[in-house]
Amino acid sequence: MQTALAEGVLAGKVAFIAGGSSGINLGVAEGFAAAGAKVALISRSPEKIEAAAKDLRDKGYEAIGMAADVRDYVAVEAALATTAGHWGPIDIVLSGAAGNFVAPAAGMSANGFKTVIDIDLLGTFNVFRASYGHIRKPGASLIAITAGQAVQPMVNQIHACAAKAGVNMVTQCLAMEWGPEGVRVNGISPGPIAETEGMRRLTPTPEAEAAYMATIPLGRYGEKRDIAELAIFLSTDSARYISGAIIPCDGASILTGGSQSSFKPA
Ligand code: NAP
Ligand code: COA
Repeated sequence: MQTALAEGVLAGKVAFIAGGSSGINLGVAEGFAAAGAKVALISRSPEKIEAAAKDLRDKGYEAIGMAADVRDYVAVEAALATTAGHWGPIDIVLSGAAGNFVAPAAGMSANGFKTVIDIDLLGTFNVFRASYGHIRKPGASLIAITAGQAVQPMVNQIHACAAKAGVNMVTQCLAMEWGPEGVRVNGISPGPIAETEGMRRLTPTPEAEAAYMATIPLGRYGEKRDIAELAIFLSTDSARYISGAIIPCDGASILTGGSQSSFKPA
């Protein structure tokens, strides 16, 4: 991946990416690798995660993939330990695993709500908490991938709104607790990013996609590279005084609230 940042800005760094088998997180992983980092990826599916890691290796990067469900603390901790055992202290931890579907609250089971809370919110706690013994102190950059749902109530998104609001709080509480040890913790809030599972689920028809597009002040969907650029910057020394920030990377779409009326259950 070609980025606008100086080549090799993350040379020698080790990055751990949770939810790295596809979409935005895999795009960020490729950005980290192109900037010189060694990358370790986890996700639930052994096939998907190995294919993603192999694809990065085929492009000439150093990458390993491990199957681990972020809801399983022991599995996450084991993957972090393997990464640190392989390459040494971890410089960058990205927590981006998430699940979402469009459903009205009145039609959602308690288990449907809990499932998204467990993946997004408990998963982010697990990834960051388990990383504590393996990250570089001082110096590590921890990044949560959150969403506009965290601050903007949305119809048919009660589970994702509650989960991502919690992700923002986990991010900011850890920035306060771990700041004194030289660990920075930030969140990136992507807007609608093209060619992702998230947008396929939220805007499954051309009409819904067009309605969403009309609400984006910059007039386009984002690209995975847009999120990668910000994640790379946050992990360099240029961002050394940035912690506890939740940074939108969304073409200003949070200002309009997005096209909520297009979020209809399939
Ligand atoms: P995606 O491709 O479906 O990415 C989700 C990733 O998480 C996959 O790699 C998936 O792999 C993994 N995953 C899911 N459940 C997991 C679990 N329990 N344990 C470990 N890994 C798990 O979706 P995306 O649209 O790119 O979204 C990526 C992130 O960006 C999410 O945090 C999402 O909330 C956020 N976001 C996306 C958009 C957007 O426009 N798409 C906008 C705002 C925020 P496996 O299936 O192999 O587990
Ligand atoms: N509408 C309402 N409820 C739904 C639903 C939908 N579209 N999809 C799943 N659920 C409910 C299920 O019915 C189940 O509840 P129940 O036991 O009361 O019936 C609960 O959610 C858990 O479903 P399950 O399929 O067992 O969960 P899982 O852990 O295997 O998968 C999901 C998690 C549901 C989030 C699945 O969509 C997924 O794996 N998503 C990852 C990819 C993704 O969402 N990418 C976008 C990221 S923004």
